[in-house]
Amino acid sequence: MQAFQRFPYPPSLPAEVPEDLLPKLSELRDEFGTDKDHLKHVTDHFVKELERGLTEEGGDIPMNITWVTDFPTGNERGKYLTLDLGGTNLRVCEVSLSAQKGDFAFTQRKYKLPENLRSAPVVELWDFIAECVHMFIEEHHSEFSAEEKLPLAFTFSYPVLQKSIKEGILQRWTKDYSCPGAEGNDIVAQLEASMDKKQVPVEVVALVNDTTGTLIATAYRDPQVRIGSIFSTGCNSAYVEACSAIPKIKHAGLPPDSKVAINTECGAFDNSCKVLRRTRFDKDIDACSPRQGQQLYEKIIAGRYLGEIVRRVLLELHNNNGLFRDQDASELNTPHILEASFLSSVEEDNSHLREGVYSLLKEGLGVESTVPERRITRFLVEIVGTRAARLYACGIAAICKKRDIKTGVVGVDGSTFNHYTRFRLRVTQAMRDIMEWPDDIKDPITFEVSEDGSGVGAALIAALTLGETQPEVADGATW
Ligand code: BGC
Repeated sequence: MQAFQRFPYPPSLPAEVPEDLLPKLSELRDEFGTDKDHLKHVTDHFVKELERGLTEEGGDIPMNITWVTDFPTGNERGKYLTLDLGGTNLRVCEVSLSAQKGDFAFTQRKYKLPENLRSAPVVELWDFIAECVHMFIEEHHSEFSAEEKLPLAFTFSYPVLQKSIKEGILQRWTKDYSCPGAEGNDIVAQLEASMDKKQVPVEVVALVNDTTGTLIATAYRDPQVRIGSIFSTGCNSAYVEACSAIPKIKHAGLPPDSKVAINTECGAFDNSCKVLRRTRFDKDIDACSPRQGQQLYEKIIAGRYLGEIVRRVLLELHNNNGLFRDQDASELNTPHILEASFLSSVEEDNSHLREGVYSLLKEGLGVESTVPERRITRFLVEIVGTRAARLYACGIAAICKKRDIKTGVVGVDGSTFNHYTRFRLRVTQAMRDIMEWPDDIKDPITFEVSEDGSGVGAALIAALTLGETQPEVADGATW
């Protein structure tokens, strides 16, 4: 009988480090602890919050209606422009859903987003985006004129309240964006105003969250998909819900047997601080963020914050416990100096003397670490990464429980998930802990890396919205 136990919890205390530090390390491990009972408790509360979010009254999790009510069969056709506003880049693509069923081709260009645009008046952000789309069209579509508008699907990965698929009122910025002038306004109208100003011949036909794009892109090739999720700078998940189970859209008159994709916006889980154990490091990160009290779950687990949590723990150990003693560790005072990739790189170093960690600490913080210091750093990365992975699993498990999903695939996009192998293994272990799958069966719910949500996913949503599908036998996913 094969046991599918993959990843031991909790991480072991590091060997061969000064004895007097062990109580402190053990204390930190407890503070970041997420044992099985805690995971189950968090998941149960998560399920209730997912349900509350679908009611008029609402709760911490917005559970935004995406108005994506049709799902791909592989027969979708057409050429679409897609635009994805990510944390660091803007990606413009032309996607052709082509002759071969389920096939596609695309051309893309990435434009680096100037850092100052994260907080500049929002019109500057839209003007910059319009300029990039203009350049892309010049390069690839010079034959198009202003009369012949290209259909554009806009992947905008922030919480928006949508009355239809072509509009969205920004509820709040996340991921440390804070451009004034957008919250409370329809961002599609704002973007189109900048496009018109610059005479860019496009028409936004669909506003798409990255999770919904991932869900639909995964469904295009794998009918087993049940959840689309992003674990990157931010984190969030989307799934398909029965309209009859959504009291807050009763008035919309949708047929009760129809279904709609829900963008959970679960990064806001537990904003009312009922179940998550927030450490002083988490509280400080929130206190220094542009939107305090918001996205508290995201601030504990997502890529934007993982390196920052590790930095703060290292700094505390440096100040109080002699870590990096007699070193100039002043770089440790720089917020966000460590990125999520620091965690995955540290955990990739399997050498006995942790030479890889030495180089990472030298490059990242300018410190010359001793072997015990590298072992301690590795341990801290493990406890921070483990907590994130296990709490992330709670959100996925909660959707499965809510929708009674017993088997299927979670399509996940995002650099942190895709490049951090041990993180993925911990997520699957935590799913086992929560769902109590017998040791001798393979995971009934699996995670699949899905990288084309904001391109193909958004284009498919545009095609489905415009009805551009071939009338063939529908054989897509059954939700
Ligand atoms: C946003 C979501 C998005 C997620 C992943 C969160 O901060 O609120 O809309 O899906 O990040 O990009």
